[in-house]
Amino acid sequence: MSDSDGIEARESKPLTVDIPITSNNNDDSFKGKIKSLINNAMENNPYFAAGGGLMILGTGLALAKSGVAMGSSLLYRNLIVDLEIQSKDKSYSWFLTWMAKHPQRISKHLAVKTQYVQHNNGSVTTKFDFVPGPGNHWIRYKGAFIYVKRERSSRMVDLTNGSPFETVSLTTLYRDRYLFNEILTEAKELAVKSSEGKTVLYTSFGPEWRPFGQPKAKRAIESVILDKNIKEDILKDVNDFLRNGQWYSERGIPYRRGYLLYGPPGSGKTSFIQALAGALDYNICILNLSENNLTDDRLNHLMNNMPERSVLLLEDIDAAFNKRTLNSESGYQTSVTFSGLLNALDGVTSSEETITFMTTNHPEKLDPAILRPGRVDFKQFVGNATEYQIKNMFLKFYPNENTLCNEFMKKAASLKKPISTAQLQGLFVMNKDDPKAAVATINTISDPINFN
Ligand SMILES: Nc1ncnc2c1ncn2[C@@H]1O[C@H](COP(=O)(O)OP(=O)(O)OP(=O)(O)O)[C@@H](O)[C@H]1O
Ligand SMILES: [Mg+2]
Repeated sequence: MSDSDGIEARESKPLTVDIPITSNNNDDSFKGKIKSLINNAMENNPYFAAGGGLMILGTGLALAKSGVAMGSSLLYRNLIVDLEIQSKDKSYSWFLTWMAKHPQRISKHLAVKTQYVQHNNGSVTTKFDFVPGPGNHWIRYKGAFIYVKRERSSRMVDLTNGSPFETVSLTTLYRDRYLFNEILTEAKELAVKSSEGKTVLYTSFGPEWRPFGQPKAKRAIESVILDKNIKEDILKDVNDFLRNGQWYSERGIPYRRGYLLYGPPGSGKTSFIQALAGALDYNICILNLSENNLTDDRLNHLMNNMPERSVLLLEDIDAAFNKRTLNSESGYQTSVTFSGLLNALDGVTSSEETITFMTTNHPEKLDPAILRPGRVDFKQFVGNATEYQIKNMFLKFYPNENTLCNEFMKKAASLKKPISTAQLQGLFVMNKDDPKAAVATINTISDPINFN
């Protein structure tokens, strides 16, 4: 290598510095020359020396920084745990409600959750719960501090219902991690307790089930007066079904049972199903098949994703037998089709029991295919008030008024027109404390819509 090689090498650097080749370096090899070049640069060139120092300092700092980061992440991983609860998880609202009631907390960001509480006498009071809003919060639970962060994503939207995607994350020390389980269990118990003795009504919201209002006080089954033995027969059948889960699974039969209640409007079909669900301690998922925009896909999805321990109630199933399920203008499906309903009924693949109640005012519109066992296993006519029902309803509203009851029944028979139980209820509610007035005004009952 000649001197000119060295100069060329130097010229390629941005800073042109003069590097004399010192005489004390006797090593003429290529390696030796490079070494002496570097030595010279470091020793004699102030710019280079300063740069080198800075570089070493920079590298040192960078190493220290990543060391701290690594150390803290190691510390974080080993000493701190967090738990994320997403808004689509059930525990999400349980936790928020629990936290609203937890006394030891520091929250500066609150959100309001309005509760309607229905009392057993039917009256309603309103209550405001201040749940933790989006932001940071602290709680103290069993001596441990837990950092709670509620976040709302501005970009991510829960596609199933269009609401912003949210998460709550709880952070605490690793040694206190078991507290998460305790908190969630407490939150769940609180939620269960608030709906104890109540029936939760779910309705569809997009493709998912949402509680409709607050849990309602259970309707006593005695308050629904159907003709002799109807309630008892259905109740016995449902209880038999619920006792026989093993029988079904041993034979590989889907564990489901379908009931069809048909009859004129206002005869107590829906009321009875609600009361029955209450008696079984089940909730109810209600779907109205005549509802607009309920497509086959949605029906299928909803039926396969029911909250546990609920009875499915499909109202107005005759709507599915309507020929006009396609909107003539847009060509879109506007309600469930017949085959959609059959597929949904056949396709329920829940490992739990599925109890489906269907109602209709127009049994004549139903295709016999729906009545096949497995789809409808039990059908029951629920009609206008019979003598038995008139008597029992009268005495329910006016206990011990036997003489007036007889008079009322005679007058009802002399009207020679069908009376629905809903109409009787209306008359008795109008004359709450006055059975005589009820007897006197029975002829004001207008004709019920004819059922044929
Ligand atoms: N058999 C009954 N016993 C007690 N209450 C009844 C009875 N039938 C109707 N009612 C009362 O009448 C109202 C309407 O009853 P419900 O909604 O259960 O009727 P339905 O048979 O489901 O009618 P539709 O066919 O129109 O859906 C309710 O307030 C209910 O309390
Ligand atoms: Mg009904």
